Amino acid sequence: MRPIDQKPAIAGGKPVRPPERYLVFGAPAIGEAEIAEVVDTLRSGWLGTGPKVARFEEAFARYSGAAHAVAVSSCTAALHLAMLASGVGPGDEVITTPLTFCATVNAILHAGATPVLVDCDPRTLDLDPARVAERITPRTRALLPVHLAGLPCEMQALREIAGAHGLRLIEDCAHAIETRDAAGRPAGTLGDLGAFSFYVTKNVVTAEGGMLTTSDAGLADRIKVLALHGMSRDAWRRFSDDGFKHYEVTEAGFKYNMTDLQAALGIHQLARVEANLARREAIWRRYDAAFAELPVELPPGPPPGARHARHLYTLRLETGRLLLSRDRFVAALHAEGIGAGVHYRALTEYAFYRERLGVSLGSCPHAEDAGRRILSLPLSAGLCDEDVEDVITAVRRIALAHAAW
Ligand SMILES: Cc1ncc(COP(=O)(O)O)c(C=O)c1O
Repeated sequence: MRPIDQKPAIAGGKPVRPPERYLVFGAPAIGEAEIAEVVDTLRSGWLGTGPKVARFEEAFARYSGAAHAVAVSSCTAALHLAMLASGVGPGDEVITTPLTFCATVNAILHAGATPVLVDCDPRTLDLDPARVAERITPRTRALLPVHLAGLPCEMQALREIAGAHGLRLIEDCAHAIETRDAAGRPAGTLGDLGAFSFYVTKNVVTAEGGMLTTSDAGLADRIKVLALHGMSRDAWRRFSDDGFKHYEVTEAGFKYNMTDLQAALGIHQLARVEANLARREAIWRRYDAAFAELPVELPPGPPPGARHARHLYTLRLETGRLLLSRDRFVAALHAEGIGAGVHYRALTEYAFYRERLGVSLGSCPHAEDAGRRILSLPLSAGLCDEDVEDVITAVRRIALAHAAW
């Protein structure tokens, strides 16, 4: 058997897609309605936070079944505010997963608290409640699960742990706009607070943007104050044409508000969220069928009755049966004209987090193993059938050229 990576990464011949037709990973599906709404916003002269943000918040609260939805500038901002509004601060610990985007853990650090990385479940790659229970200390203040790729976490078990120890339960819903638990309840309503992302690659896109959901009116009010300089709640009225009013500043807040330009995109993206999900589900089924016999692990499906948001289609390479590392596989896809992503390398792979959190490589073996073998394929609702077939041709060509059977 050849050692890994000895064979060339490119299977040879013409690339599946020439450079001028390169398939970008995570390209958004923007429609004419969004374009018209942005133009309308520009013409209205009201570019900042205003009526369209209010419309988007109402529509999002309706869609997600949350009593309150507060639009902000990013999911990172939403997570930071969720920490602060939950009273998380210096001396506190927040338990989260190592297999996530750095923003999840950075938000805990920004609040002055200590992230505690607990290894994920090796099948689902979501936070493992049994391991979480073992890591509770008197300093634990909150749990921060991430519905990775859109697959719902075991929220019932996490709720029980949070309830037993008086902890806040904050959901990182960056991938989970359409996620539902087995009882049909939406992500973002399964804990105390839900933080969503509308970054360019996400299922609903506002270029940059985020949303916080909660059933607690007090939390929602506090988040609004923190998101806008710490100005008293009435300050939001300055975004109306009621005329000038003085406001109070009650604390040193942040500049985390969303603009009407962003909300103009979000309103129409959200209107198509279910149709886009149906398209991604169809692509997902096509990928599953096409890759079933390759030396790769297919992405885990949701438990019975639950709904996966189909945000990321991930393959885990079976490195024992494939003579190619993940990085070389991604490079080979690139050479074939197909963009791919890595979601994610475990945070214990980063020297910064090892030093800052005092953790070592090897402390989260499941997340580290997955993070070395995982890659994400294009899954945008904007892909046409030919794009999907090109992805399949490229993946099969590379995998079959390097299979060790
Ligand atoms: C799991 C997760 N959490 C948080 C974020 C941060 O989102 P944003 O870019 O909107 O700040 C992302 C963004 O990619 C993410 O994937």
